[in-house]
Amino acid sequence: MARKGIVTVVGAGFYGSTTAQRLAEYDIFSKVVLTDIRDGWAEGLALDLNQSRPIEGFETEVVGKTTTTDGQGYEAIAGSDIVVITAGLPRKPGMSRMDLLGVNGGIVRGVAENVAKHAPNAVIIVVSNPLDEMTTMAQIASGFPHARVIGQAGMLDTARFSYFVAEKLGVPVGSVKTLTLGSHGDTMVPVPSACTVDGKPLAGLLDADTIEQLVVRTRGGGAEVVSLLKSGSAYYAPSAAAARMAKAVADDNGQVMPVCAWVDGQFGIESVYLGVEAEIGAGGVKRVVERDLTETELTALREAAASVKAKAADVANL
Ligand code: LAC
Repeated sequence: MARKGIVTVVGAGFYGSTTAQRLAEYDIFSKVVLTDIRDGWAEGLALDLNQSRPIEGFETEVVGKTTTTDGQGYEAIAGSDIVVITAGLPRKPGMSRMDLLGVNGGIVRGVAENVAKHAPNAVIIVVSNPLDEMTTMAQIASGFPHARVIGQAGMLDTARFSYFVAEKLGVPVGSVKTLTLGSHGDTMVPVPSACTVDGKPLAGLLDADTIEQLVVRTRGGGAEVVSLLKSGSAYYAPSAAAARMAKAVADDNGQVMPVCAWVDGQFGIESVYLGVEAEIGAGGVKRVVERDLTETELTALREAAASVKAKAADVANL
């Protein structure tokens, strides 16, 4: 099997290390690079992951590298086709993702500048929170074309929504299709009109109140995990989502996914990073996909756009 391409994961916390593990276990890349600012941490995890290769049977090499905030170590990411930025702090119970804006803004700015220097042709996938704002930051700091900077949120929020529907109806998760758009925060827009179970509209299977309860639980899906863990935030579902996005870039097959992408004219929304469906491929976003939304859903999407836009000036100044 031909393995090709280098994918880097910046930040080897639980989110980053599980993302690196999933990417390595796909066995499609020639190399997965994992970096972290804790001395020796990424090297240790890379060694551990490489030692799992004979058992799991994958040949993708994992390289770990300690980096410093002044950019030392970043030469290890040279040649990366894809860079997943997980760097930054996770939420603590009671915090909103937006509470991380100041601290993570500086971290993501520094990382994106180093990515631009050492992997100038990469597609950047941002997962740091607050997601829409950190994706905005990574584009500004890297100077990359908007299409090459995308954020991970819709895949995760959609997966949460699908799981809650499957659990409620007692059906296989594979029979459920759901969709969320908008921000990865309070203005997340679950789209019940696009939800089906075995191809049948969700609205015919659950009453409006029950669907609304699942929507509310989806919007708070990350916070529910944070409050149970008490320290740290979710990483199994988030890393699955980020790794699948990286795979879609590598496969270059135009797979349509809900992601945080630059929206410029679609849905009547201008110049903002927002959760929408997009075709993903080698250059990042090939095309933002528009779909018919109900009036309520469209209004909510425009409100989400306005709220992300309102923060954009703050982001530029971080
Ligand atoms: C979550 C974080 C990762 O939603 O944003 O779990």
